[in-house]
Amino acid sequence: MSARLIDGKAISEQVLQETQDGVTQFRAKHGCAPGLAFVRVGEDPASVVYVGAKAKMCERLGIQSQTFVLPAITSESQVLELVRSLNGQKSIHGILVQAPLPDGMSQDRVFEAIDPAKDVDGFHPMNVGKLAVGDPGGFIACTPAGVHQLLIRSGIEIAGKHVVVLGRSRIVGKPMALILMEKGKYADATVTVCHSRSRDLPSLTRQADILIAALGRNRFVKADMVRDGAVVMDVGITRVPDSSKKSGFRLEGDVDFGSVSEKASWITPVPGGVGPMTIAMLMANTLKAAQFSM
Ligand code: GUN
Repeated sequence: MSARLIDGKAISEQVLQETQDGVTQFRAKHGCAPGLAFVRVGEDPASVVYVGAKAKMCERLGIQSQTFVLPAITSESQVLELVRSLNGQKSIHGILVQAPLPDGMSQDRVFEAIDPAKDVDGFHPMNVGKLAVGDPGGFIACTPAGVHQLLIRSGIEIAGKHVVVLGRSRIVGKPMALILMEKGKYADATVTVCHSRSRDLPSLTRQADILIAALGRNRFVKADMVRDGAVVMDVGITRVPDSSKKSGFRLEGDVDFGSVSEKASWITPVPGGVGPMTIAMLMANTLKAAQFSM
């Protein structure tokens, strides 16, 4: 079988267009724009690129963004102070502190200082808890929410299917499993979560109707780990040094695309699959935060 490609670029454009329409309506109704604050600590090169791309997307959609850049030597208490001050600003509806934070700074403490009503990343324990109990009033982490939208908008049936999630991270694996095991039309899956300590991974991944790879190990999933006709969602994104590229690197997913695409029924490419969805869902969460605040 040769897999059909799930076009993350095209589907993210749908989400962005819908969000832009929502932003236009919000501005007309309330006379102000949804506001998103970015906090970047230090000069991690990937973070510089990601925050820049997110800010540019805000501009395109009519979301007012502000970026706060603090030097890497900033203390944790100064970052917490900034977050608390942003919590108190009415024109800021969403706050995103870009990870990774410098060594020695507690990511958990910083994320937990964000007002849950402004936590457009969906990382705050309050929002993770809302997802776990099926409360739709919280924020869901953007990457797993994006994978969910890719499945829904590609018309892939989820109910009753066996989904195997490879990876148990707080940001992707755990919320992904919670989203898909929830009751409802676009969920109702049987979910297995595997990780680095799971015994005989290939025997588990071969049971998947839908396999979601989110381990952060490039080209880890080979064809012999995938069942014929499975849907394969690749969340991985690793920079591999490549002197033939102008940037000096190429991007690889967690899936060995060449061999797995021969077996799967649907597959996401890297780049151009899950990646563009993360930013689109961030924009959608920001609009939701602004709407909820009114
Ligand atoms: N670093 C890489 N991805 C993300 C993300 O989605 N949110 C935050 N806050 N930091 C990140």
